[in-house]
Amino acid sequence: MDNNIIEQKKYKIITYGCQMNLHESEKIGGLLCERGYTATDDETKADVIVFNTCCIRENAEDRAEGNIGALKKLKAKNKDLIIAVGGCMTQQKDFAEKLHQTFPFVDIIFGTHNLEDFGRLFDKKLTQKKKLIEVLPHEEAIKEGTPKCRTSFPNAWVNITYGCNNFCTYCIVPYVRGRERSRKIEDIVSECRQLVKEGYKEITLLGQNVNSYGNDLKDVDFATLIDEVSKIEGKFRLRFMTNHPKDLTEKLVQAIARSEKTCRSVHLPVQAGSNRILKLMNRRYTREDYLEKVELLRKYIPDVAITTDIMVSFPTETEEDFLDTMDLASRVKFAGAFTFIYSKRKGTPAEKMDGQIPEAVSKDRITRLIELQNNTNREQSKEYLNKTVEILCEDFDQKKGMYLGRDTHGRMAYFKSEKNLIGQFVDVKITKTGGISLIGEIIW
Ligand code: 5AD
Ligand code: SF4
Repeated sequence: MDNNIIEQKKYKIITYGCQMNLHESEKIGGLLCERGYTATDDETKADVIVFNTCCIRENAEDRAEGNIGALKKLKAKNKDLIIAVGGCMTQQKDFAEKLHQTFPFVDIIFGTHNLEDFGRLFDKKLTQKKKLIEVLPHEEAIKEGTPKCRTSFPNAWVNITYGCNNFCTYCIVPYVRGRERSRKIEDIVSECRQLVKEGYKEITLLGQNVNSYGNDLKDVDFATLIDEVSKIEGKFRLRFMTNHPKDLTEKLVQAIARSEKTCRSVHLPVQAGSNRILKLMNRRYTREDYLEKVELLRKYIPDVAITTDIMVSFPTETEEDFLDTMDLASRVKFAGAFTFIYSKRKGTPAEKMDGQIPEAVSKDRITRLIELQNNTNREQSKEYLNKTVEILCEDFDQKKGMYLGRDTHGRMAYFKSEKNLIGQFVDVKITKTGGISLIGEIIW
């Protein structure tokens, strides 16, 4: 084969959903890079387009379906274009078949359980005309060594667990990602060590519930893992997501507190502030338990920034339940919150529950919640004024003409610089505060 021709081939990956998916797209990209392909942003120039889908909420699914549908024209123009669809959406029962019927021009359909096998599927597709649909019904043992084409320097994502055992009643994840499996501690630590050696300045450990890391292994837990990764020499930041309040123990909080590498921010999804709703959600903690975890974090890490996920309009949620959520949010004063309207997911226990909430009520609730959170953000931002914070420069914002990065609390700051500072730690004096983002000047 002629290598020059292979080198010119291009791929584009379109990712929906969370960091977990973004990292999985880095693996799909790695498998394509290994085959001589390079990334492009322009889909009209791509030889392969991969959709890495998410099914956690209906809007993510709708967007993906719309975008896949829009490729019909491109495929009609370029018969050699390979279109692949993978991720959580295709892993849902019968969904791959539906996708195949709706979008017959898609060439490869694969699931979450055989993502690591995408390279083999791709090779097979190059030698045959027939469409390939391979979605495994169950998870397989963890495969190590998949190449990665990382896209988020100076941050690097590192998987520590796959799957979830919690079965929150609204959530589709346990059905499409299978039972929780932990990577071996030595594999994780050696990946992190290598990343630091390569110059990455931030490592984010990923799992649906990182706090239960090691439950399926011997003699290790998440606290041990934090201790071990923190021992790696060199200046870098350690982050992790996401946590589950029921599994955030004192031992773990102590490990976070004593680790100099670990950022002073913890993402602790609360979902709701009403005990009745938390029970229906099968979250296995009460609002009182959650507030105790917040106290625990603040006892050992006084300046910790706690961020969260909050859902409104779970089936049967009353105004009183919602006010409990508002009350909890105003007590905790989250440093940031992702807010969602409950979205009915097929096959989950909540799908069968009576008392779905009308859209107008949901919109009103989420608007009030966002307003409350915006006020908290503004208040907290004011405290940054005239302070100097250490920022890890992550990117350049073309529109603003400014560099940006985050402090140890995860707070974003923008600043000007003549030099490219991406990947460097810089001291920034905050001169202007608005909503959640800050503006400052570099102190050289
Ligand atoms: N509807 C709305 N939000 C959901 N999440 C998970 N499942 C659903 C659903 N069915 C939210 C939760 C979770 C975050 C990743 O997504 O808040 O923490
Ligand atoms: Fe979904 Fe709950 Fe598992 Fe998070 S912990 S992935 S919300 S089932």
